[in-house]
Amino acid sequence: MSAAPLLEIRGLKAGYTEVEVLHGVDLTVCEGEFVCIIGANTAGKSTILRSISRLVPRVSGTLRFAGTDLMTRSSFETPSLGIAHVPEGRQIFPDMTVEENLLLGAFTARTASDLPARMQDVFTLFPRLLERREQLAGTLSGGEQQMVAVGRALMLKPKLLLLDEPSHGLAPKVVEEMHDAFVQIHSRGTSILLVEQNVGLALDVATRGYVLESGRITLEGSAADLNENPAVRAAYLGI
Ligand SMILES: Nc1ncnc2c1ncn2[C@@H]1O[C@H](COP(=O)(O)OP(=O)(O)OP(=O)(O)O)[C@@H](O)[C@H]1O
Ligand SMILES: [Mg+2]
Repeated sequence: MSAAPLLEIRGLKAGYTEVEVLHGVDLTVCEGEFVCIIGANTAGKSTILRSISRLVPRVSGTLRFAGTDLMTRSSFETPSLGIAHVPEGRQIFPDMTVEENLLLGAFTARTASDLPARMQDVFTLFPRLLERREQLAGTLSGGEQQMVAVGRALMLKPKLLLLDEPSHGLAPKVVEEMHDAFVQIHSRGTSILLVEQNVGLALDVATRGYVLESGRITLEGSAADLNENPAVRAAYLGI
């Protein structure tokens, strides 16, 4: 972690009801980093991403992004700060075309003169979306819908891309394509925070990672170290 912190989370506690889901999480993403969070079902992984996007009702602790105190901001404001969130389950608009879905991603920059160039960048990354730009998103395959969800987020030109289980339910070949795309997005300078059930793949593409268990970070380290860690191998890699 030599670069400056882009996202700083300290002592994050969060919950939806009186039940607390996160019990004091510390996590940092530096400028240009590709960080992953791994953990079992219901550990609270999505709740971390949703807390950053200010979508969780009960949150305390420190949440800072690029010098801004996120605790003073609402979910409507995080996109214009440069945070793009690809939610679990994609949540694209099925009755709108691919192109319309992509344009919605740029809603904070509706008048930007570079919208065609932004869309061209998405099509360069996912050529299949160019072929299908007029197609209703709901009629696309699962993999193509995930490309729309990621492409829509990229239309914001985010500083930080939050990815929640982007490979869930996709065929292995599509998962690989998706992860190649993430490596490209990262190499062009976007910082990434990835939540992934496919731990092997997550540790392949990310440079650093955190293990979350029952709302607490229990391990953190370089992806290479986590890959070699006997506890990670036993619990998440089935080795
Ligand atoms: N909107 C909500 N209202 C009430 N409880 C919620 C809500 N969303 C999540 N929870 C609870 O918070 C806990 C953590 O959920 P979260 O979705 O963050 O886990 P996760 O690690 O992302 O799990 P998964 O791997 O299944 O996606 C769970 O016990 C869940 O039931
Ligand atoms: Mg989740």
